[in-house]
Amino acid sequence: MSTTENRYMTGFGNEFATEAVAGALPVGRNSPQKAAHGLYAEQLSGTAFTAPRGQNRRSWLYRIRPAAMHGAFEPFEQDKFHNDFGDGPVPPDQLRWSPLPIPETPTDFVNGLYAVAGNGGAAAQTGVGIHLYAANKSMQGRYFYDADAELLIVPQQGRLRIATELGVVDVEPQQIVVVPRGVRFRVDLPDGPSRGYVCENFGALLRLPDLGPIGANGLANPRDFETPVAAYEDAEGEFELVAKFQGRLWRASIDHSPLDVVAWHGNYAPYRYDLRRFNAIGSISYDHPDPSIFTVLTSPSDTHGTANLDFAIFPPRWLVAQDTFRPPWFHRNIASEFMGLVHGVYDAKAEGFAPGGASLHNCMIGHGPDAATFEKASNADLSKPDVIADTMAFMFETRAAIRPTRQALDAPHRQRDYQDCWAGLEKHFRSPGA
Ligand SMILES: [Fe+2]
Repeated sequence: MSTTENRYMTGFGNEFATEAVAGALPVGRNSPQKAAHGLYAEQLSGTAFTAPRGQNRRSWLYRIRPAAMHGAFEPFEQDKFHNDFGDGPVPPDQLRWSPLPIPETPTDFVNGLYAVAGNGGAAAQTGVGIHLYAANKSMQGRYFYDADAELLIVPQQGRLRIATELGVVDVEPQQIVVVPRGVRFRVDLPDGPSRGYVCENFGALLRLPDLGPIGANGLANPRDFETPVAAYEDAEGEFELVAKFQGRLWRASIDHSPLDVVAWHGNYAPYRYDLRRFNAIGSISYDHPDPSIFTVLTSPSDTHGTANLDFAIFPPRWLVAQDTFRPPWFHRNIASEFMGLVHGVYDAKAEGFAPGGASLHNCMIGHGPDAATFEKASNADLSKPDVIADTMAFMFETRAAIRPTRQALDAPHRQRDYQDCWAGLEKHFRSPGA
């Protein structure tokens, strides 16, 4: 039997308490001598036991069987999903890719994961892995967890139904979901062929950015984050548990569904967020702020103000600045930027950056609007506001350089002529007297 509830609790990092069977949550203690209904009590810690209270994340799970029960692990063959970012040369080129093709043979979420780039790694608990997924079938009899990272999943085509140990999360394009490190889950594809982006965050857990002078509200508001209520599967059979551990995939047999948590309480749980609820803030006079103004979630590093990972979006918004080049300007940056497009058109590129595609502009690599966008924006009528209505782009920005994988550099869907988009920029300057 299964619970079929699919509801959410709101708030970011709250102390939630939820039970799918009345009385399953103990009162006044976490680990009673005998948990109610014959359940096992188990703590899942996402931060060090001694992390400061404001950052400490853990949940107590009340489950049919403890997570320790499964067979021995052996290597799982899926050579496209890994953390081999290498120590060889990284070309200081602007890089761009067309969308990853949807597979033609039956492929589930785990088999459809494809490593594009990354830095750091699970061993040092710093950096990110940047991946795509392209799949066409639901996971059947298979469950997955990532011990290396929390997973930030950005669907671009097709909805995902992610059944986790802590409840069921439905997401669609223009929403995101974060699955904490270690949480077991299964991905169903209600729309069939599906595609999107996955960021493995090896570093500190994602959190909401501080707002400083913006004040108490704005950007992503805490109440728009949704965590599922408890839901469980009481199922026995021949199943498979796939684990990602230290950059590699492993599999073990398991004779029951690991999604058997009947009740839980705590602040370490999956959540979803609808990017269309983001409160975009920008200039109402001239220029526009740095793109950090669009940060949804941030993973801090051990250097204050310098993130391991910033997840920023470029949502629909009005542009009103006067005597200003309104699209993103030309720039070089110590941080490295991986961009994707979920929906519509990105305002700095006239063409070539398609929904499902990606670009990578590494540390100090010059980039910005293409020639067509530059000419148009330089001559635009600024007496009227512009609206960018049909767009949803995002960026994974990291302090460390992002190293593309060999398969991404060699991929047929890499656009080897990407640099040509700047080739048409005219020389307008004439030296005085020349
Ligand atoms: Fe940039």
